[in-house]
Amino acid sequence: MGEISLGIMTKELCHELFRNWENDPDIYADMSLFKVYQYDEDAVNRYFDTKQDSSRVLLAIMKDGAPVGEIQLKQIDFERKECTLSIHMQNDTFKGRGYGTCAERLAVQYAFETLDIEAVNADVIAKNTRSQHVLEKVGFRFLKEENGFRYYRCER
Ligand SMILES: CC(C)(COP(=O)(O)OP(=O)(O)OC[C@H]1O[C@@H](n2cnc3c(N)ncnc32)[C@H](O)[C@@H]1OP(=O)(O)O)[C@@H](O)C(=O)NCCC(=O)NCCS
Repeated sequence: MGEISLGIMTKELCHELFRNWENDPDIYADMSLFKVYQYDEDAVNRYFDTKQDSSRVLLAIMKDGAPVGEIQLKQIDFERKECTLSIHMQNDTFKGRGYGTCAERLAVQYAFETLDIEAVNADVIAKNTRSQHVLEKVGFRFLKEENGFRYYRCER
């Protein structure tokens, strides 16, 4: 699993990532909102631009020189020293191979060491048992279930 690394997402990487993107049904509580993803250059530019703010780090999950997923550290609060993690692999080809586990471990390490954060939060919809299992494997602790979401936290 040494082949996974994280890098700061650039606009170019973002386009490369979304050109082969598939939305995953596991992240939709309401399946009527699920749509098959269609690459749209302008929409990707807008997506990238709206994610550039001081409370967020957008990271590309890299394998063999190509982006295979996205991981975000968002809602970064440098005073409380906490943030929230979200992750989505590019498509099914890159799921179930240990890459997500590896990427989450690296992102937590990045939050603790590079951002000097003390706690990383995550919330997952109840049906997404795969994501919950991975969070627990990485060391996140289950806090509570509320309104269909399960809340986790990983402390330094
Ligand atoms: C969630 C996600 C990031 C995990 O990454 P991944 O690379 O697929 O996960 P890994 O291969 O590292 O690990 C998967 C683990 O889940 C287990 N698993 C697979 N399906 C499962 C299920 N339905 N329920 C519980 N565990 C499951 C696997 O057995 C494996 O655990 P193990 O190593 O103990 O055997 C990835 O699947 C993904 O992008 N999913 C779509 C988006 C998403 O759900 N994001 C999270 C939103 S909170």
